[in-house]
Amino acid sequence: MSRIILALDVYEKEKALKIARETRDYLWAIKINWPLILGSGLGIVKELKKETKLPIIGDFKVADIPNTNRLIAKKAFEAGVDYIIVHGFVGRDSVEAVMEEGKTIIVVEMSHEGAKQFIQPITDELIELANELNPFGVIAPATRPERVRYIRKKLDRSIKILTPGVGAQGGKALEALKAGADYIIIGRSIYKSDNPRESAKIIWEEIENGVKS
Ligand code: XMP
Repeated sequence: MSRIILALDVYEKEKALKIARETRDYLWAIKINWPLILGSGLGIVKELKKETKLPIIGDFKVADIPNTNRLIAKKAFEAGVDYIIVHGFVGRDSVEAVMEEGKTIIVVEMSHEGAKQFIQPITDELIELANELNPFGVIAPATRPERVRYIRKKLDRSIKILTPGVGAQGGKALEALKAGADYIIIGRSIYKSDNPRESAKIIWEEIENGVKS
């Protein structure tokens, strides 16, 4: 099984479906975010599933009061999303409201520079929250493998680690996996490539060879 999640951050439906079709053989799942939903509408979820038969992760970074979080999650799961990404800093009740609706992934640290400002100082508490709630997974930064290693050590073994930041943001797939990530999330390095299928295949092979060696 692949360890690659494609971050399909394009606006247009036809473009999204084409890239998904071309790359599906090398993916575990497809992650969709606001650019695609705002550009193509929520109906894209079922179309992507029909084309690829892959799980869909809704990266909506839900961060509201419990009632609004629940309303958002309900709609997303109804639309066919299999997992939702939610922020943990809004507190336990808001996260639980999403978890009651379906499989959830909690952000415990982000991959960009600004994450050091507010998120990284509370990562320990976010890990604790995840350990208490036992979600499907957490998000940790592939741009900082040492932080992935730290998070893996503190996090319950049953919780998966998904790491964005590979490629365009400078993170390396194998480093993130060796640090303890279960899946890597890649966007621009695949969807902006002249040949998305070939780019996905190269990363897939790098992982296959690297994990064996
Ligand atoms: P690129 O093009 O940088 O796309 O490969 C990365 C994708 O992942 C999202 N992203 C994050 N999501 N926590 C998250 O929950 C993060 O730290 C993070 N960093 C990147 C980004 O929005 C894009 O869809």
